[in-house]
Amino acid sequence: MKETVVSGIRPTGKLHLGNYFGAVKNFVKMQYDYNCYFFIADLHSLTTHPTPGDLHGYVKHVLVEYLACGINPEETTIYIQSDVPEVAELYLYLNMNAYMGELERSASFKDKIRSQSDNVNAGLLTYPTLMAADILIHKATKVPVGKDQEQHLEMTRTFGNRFNRMYKTDLFPESYAFNYQENLVKVPGLDGKGKMSKSSGDGSCIYLSDSPEVIRKKVSRAVTDAGPTEENQPKPEAIQNLFDLMKIVSPADTMAHFDGLYNKCELRYGDFKKQLAEDMILFNTPIREKIEEISKDTSYLRQVAKHGALKARESAQKTIKEARELIGFKSF
Ligand code: TYM
Repeated sequence: MKETVVSGIRPTGKLHLGNYFGAVKNFVKMQYDYNCYFFIADLHSLTTHPTPGDLHGYVKHVLVEYLACGINPEETTIYIQSDVPEVAELYLYLNMNAYMGELERSASFKDKIRSQSDNVNAGLLTYPTLMAADILIHKATKVPVGKDQEQHLEMTRTFGNRFNRMYKTDLFPESYAFNYQENLVKVPGLDGKGKMSKSSGDGSCIYLSDSPEVIRKKVSRAVTDAGPTEENQPKPEAIQNLFDLMKIVSPADTMAHFDGLYNKCELRYGDFKKQLAEDMILFNTPIREKIEEISKDTSYLRQVAKHGALKARESAQKTIKEARELIGFKSF
């Protein structure tokens, strides 16, 4: 029996290189070795109150981009979270045993209190229980995600184990964050600090659908400094970030070449950025072309979403039936 894998992405716009290298790249590889469920986390995105039109458009972006990156709907189950109401039901049950203190301590909740202080809703507080429901509903053991999701996985194990203890069962297995590399990935942004993230602004993100002109412009504007003044000096965060991006998209000898120049204080940021932009374009182009092609095929998208929802519900219904019986919801 193949191990089960679950992961999802919130539809908040277009996917960027962080989403790709933190998550989707692994989805594509895992689909042949595991029993995979990859979904579009549209329920999660309601915490930010998108308009119905925006939400629908963003869901389409993610679906198209999953397919354009090479997720094969014949091999794997691709579905839209809101098509599987069993997830919301399990979320309700898990919320009964999720405590205020532990939810308030989650790093993502603390971030949101800061970033959207005018909209600190209960959905944000219970975000980790919804994520746990996504994973436990299919009894997954591996979850391909970027480094920023590690704490949510720890909470998922806590909630699953608590349910198991409470109802004296082994219904839910433990799941762990997964990446084919040794460590979980954190892709930096172009703004000189922190991870690539939509909330840091479009200028910090390279989207999979960005055209060559847009990529050149964004990279040329990436934050740098006046340049190294001493040989072999440690790189400041903004410069290290650009090298980290180069490590992801460029061949190893290109990266070694520019690293050598930096260490000898001979690096010209203009040349370095040009190379980085061209390597990003080489990486993006085939995906961007597929995005353009697939997004026109509405009937194919409809068929993929429908087929995925059927398969996901079949698995989810089995788990919900077991959970309901364990809780004591039984027919007379
Ligand atoms: P989200 O939508 O913020 O991000 C989707 C995926 O992309 C990864 N990611 C990154 N990885 C590396 N570097 C970056 N700069 C970067 N930015 C984003 C994230 O780690 C994530 O894997 N809570 C999740 C969505 C979700 C989910 C789930 C995931 C909901 N339910 C169940 C797994 C299983 C989220 O907000 O991801």
